[in-house]
Amino acid sequence: MSPARGMMAAMPSSRWTADSIPDLSGQTTVVTGANSGLGFHAALELARYGATVVMACRDLRRGEAALSRIKKEVGRPAVELRRLDLADLTSVRAFSVEMRTAHPQIHLLVNNAGVMAIPRGETADGFELQLGINHLGHFALTGLLLPCLAATPDPRVVTVSSQLHTLGAIEFDDLMSERRYGPWRAYGQSKLANLLFTFELQRRADRAGMTLLSAASHPGYAATNLQVAAAARQSTWIRQASATFTRVVAQPAAQGALPSLYAATMPDVRGGDFIGPDSFGGARGFPTRVKAAAKAYDPITAADLWEHSVDLTGVDFDALDN
Ligand SMILES: NC(=O)c1ccc[n+]([C@@H]2O[C@H](COP(=O)([O-])OP(=O)(O)OC[C@H]3O[C@@H](n4cnc5c(N)ncnc54)[C@H](OP(=O)(O)O)[C@@H]3O)[C@@H](O)[C@H]2O)c1
Repeated sequence: MSPARGMMAAMPSSRWTADSIPDLSGQTTVVTGANSGLGFHAALELARYGATVVMACRDLRRGEAALSRIKKEVGRPAVELRRLDLADLTSVRAFSVEMRTAHPQIHLLVNNAGVMAIPRGETADGFELQLGINHLGHFALTGLLLPCLAATPDPRVVTVSSQLHTLGAIEFDDLMSERRYGPWRAYGQSKLANLLFTFELQRRADRAGMTLLSAASHPGYAATNLQVAAAARQSTWIRQASATFTRVVAQPAAQGALPSLYAATMPDVRGGDFIGPDSFGGARGFPTRVKAAAKAYDPITAADLWEHSVDLTGVDFDALDN
């Protein structure tokens, strides 16, 4: 998985599929939210191509069921299940301590888990749920696993964002949406934060002379549990309309996982790339390099968000200071 920063970028093939994943034997990988949807398919394919996969799941029962499905499909995969609740920094720290002992070298971290457009709630640490799980939990996790990533020659971090980052703004005077909450607005903020983090991590790794590659992906519109959970508290009519729309318009979860898999495994991916589907305005299709909204590339907002994230989580990415 050598990063190709500085090399001429080849555009991803227009019909790239998981069949083109290179041999991943000897690579240790971590996928958050690996029991469902895109995370499940990412874990499945990484395992199929020989990686050791740590499935980081908040519910071990759902994780066990997913692990059995992977075993059925792959034969004897090197897959293990560990508990990680991104809505609780104590759990993130415990997971990271376990990992540092069990896997002192990590080649790939896929920050995939997420929640979407749910009613306002707070994590164990008092963060608004969507920012807390989608961004701050992954920020802390990445920082705490950085020593394991830094212990491999060409580590990668792939963070899953969304086209809906375009809805978001980083509300520094109300980051936790205490004064004003809109479920989609908060989702947009969290997915914009995913991109700002991705690009800022790459800038900081470059400055530190670390060969870490940080890239982002989005799945377009994929049929997963995310839409079901988002519509859960709506009226029966809205739930049915949402389910029908998803059934007709969305692509299968396995297809939606391809951009993450491309970003995670292909040698022509460059630091700061954003990979998403190539058709229907980015809603469906095969992985290609895409552009985020201009606000996602703003280094001042990114640095500011980084400092806020350090203060809020207490995780300071020491390894980047070396
Ligand atoms: N599907 C789409 O069309 C779409 C579009 C754009 C972006 N995305 C992004 O894709 C990513 C994956 O979502 P998906 O579509 O695959 O949805 P999904 O099927 O609902 O999967 C989400 C995963 O995240 C896990 N998760 C939620 N809260 C967590 C927490 N506190 N700690 C640890 N894990 C947690 C879930 O665990 P449980 O099963 O236990 O709930 C599940 O494994 C998300 O980041 C989402 O924003 C999806």
